[in-house]
Amino acid sequence: MTEQPELFCYDLSSEPKPDTGRVLVTGGSGYIGGRLVPELLARGYQVRVVVRGDTSALKRLHPLSEVVAADILDHSQLESALDDVDTAYYLIHSLYLGPGEFESADIRAARNFRRIAEEKGVRRIIYLGGLGDIRYPLSSHLRNRMEVAEELAKGKVPVTILRAAIIIGSGSASYEIMHNLVRKLPIIFVPYWAKNRCQPISIRDVIKYLVGALETPETIGRSFDIGGPDVLTYEEMLRVFANILNRKILLQSIPLSIMAFYSYAVSLLTPVPNTIVRCLIEGLKNEVICQDQSIREILPFQPIPYRESIIRAMTREEQDRVYTRWSDAYPPAHELALKLQELDNKTRFRTEYSLQTNKSDSKLFWSICRIGGKEGWFHGNWMWRLRGAVDRILMGVGTSRGRKSTSRLQINDVLDFWRIEDLRLNERLLLRSEMKLPGRAWLEFNITKQDTGYKLSVVAYYDTHSLFGELYWYFFLPFHHFIFKHLIEEIERRS
Ligand SMILES: NC(=O)c1ccc[n+]([C@@H]2O[C@H](COP(=O)([O-])OP(=O)(O)OC[C@H]3O[C@@H](n4cnc5c(N)ncnc54)[C@H](OP(=O)(O)O)[C@@H]3O)[C@@H](O)[C@H]2O)c1
Repeated sequence: MTEQPELFCYDLSSEPKPDTGRVLVTGGSGYIGGRLVPELLARGYQVRVVVRGDTSALKRLHPLSEVVAADILDHSQLESALDDVDTAYYLIHSLYLGPGEFESADIRAARNFRRIAEEKGVRRIIYLGGLGDIRYPLSSHLRNRMEVAEELAKGKVPVTILRAAIIIGSGSASYEIMHNLVRKLPIIFVPYWAKNRCQPISIRDVIKYLVGALETPETIGRSFDIGGPDVLTYEEMLRVFANILNRKILLQSIPLSIMAFYSYAVSLLTPVPNTIVRCLIEGLKNEVICQDQSIREILPFQPIPYRESIIRAMTREEQDRVYTRWSDAYPPAHELALKLQELDNKTRFRTEYSLQTNKSDSKLFWSICRIGGKEGWFHGNWMWRLRGAVDRILMGVGTSRGRKSTSRLQINDVLDFWRIEDLRLNERLLLRSEMKLPGRAWLEFNITKQDTGYKLSVVAYYDTHSLFGELYWYFFLPFHHFIFKHLIEEIERRS
């Protein structure tokens, strides 16, 4: 069962306009897009969602929407996605590509989008970008957010630009970074830029502004700064967080800051990969405060204070009701179209461990679906953690990403360094590896009916094209034997 979204726009002053025509949401698999879609559907809009990969997971999540696959960098795919669209939300970035690569990808994507939106007669575009004062040198991420806005606005289609600083909500990258730092460290060394000020905004308010912009013609073709009611230094933001968690932490100023080292260290301590941490931390060098408050007259509502948005996010996490998470968007390295058919026919290495049991299929499946995250891998956990730590050191995703929900799994969710590729109730769970590997790997759990009872199996698949990749497989084979054999025994025991 999937988590039901919480709707935020009940007190919005604007009225739904369901006869607007088709509304396109790009970045549908992302943190913001994923929360916007249910809100638009609940207000009666006809919504088309764009994803790059497999559409089935999002179709299941938003059955009332039309889900299409399109890479914004691909001309023809984008043409069909923008067919017969009235308003398009532009909620895309490529931070995963890391500094030096995301900038050009994002500009190309925006240019493509602007041109085709114009050709297709799209009536308006709504873009969520980043805050920042253009009078000062900006980090590459913030500069890029502005350049994307400029690129989109070069065309004939009017663009509404909403500019936000840090967004606080359960599952947001900034929230998880702060949460992990404050929870894990007694002393945090803060560089000089931690004295810079920021105007964080709650995810609820962001969604209200995004929906409100669609419903308010005064916003067409204009740019607005959106923020919460508090302006705080980054240091103060950490203090408030520690206060809520009732943690005593020492924030120790240090005079220098080597950005690469700092972001690498933060990425090792938090679930968020270095590519994203680096871009976000670079952004802290700039003050990000709303210069213009005009949106508050057009869309008046009481914005949520920083402290309250942290508490709400924590509550949501404690209730195990996180709806979208930063990890929902795909890392760049994996091939989105990989499917099991490929796996069945072409993988070169395979190893299987199984046992017979009289336990029911539903109990076994329930137990399989508890693996990973805080529960760990039931046996030899230190080995999984060690592999995860090596992955983090190599700037991979590691195991610290955990899982979005402790009780539910759905296709495309991350599960430590895996992503769920297939999930069939009481039958099968297929995981695709996203760790740094000299090849591609899958892990499949199966429950098969036998004459008496069930067969529970785990199958590891691996494919590589290099000699090093083959050596890697043979090196880990003895460990597989130990890990997987005990893993299924433990799954069976707990079921
Ligand atoms: N989250 C924040 O704290 C925050 C703060 C201020 C502003 N914003 C702005 O809000 C917007 C959305 O951010 P987010 O946090 O939701 O990002 P996110 O979770 O990282 O999602 C990014 C989305 O972009 C999609 N995407 C990237 N390249 C694409 C391409 N070539 N074609 C099609 N889709 C592509 C990704 O799809 P895949 O899954 O296929 O990769 C994903 O759905 C961005 O403009 C960002 O600057 C966010």
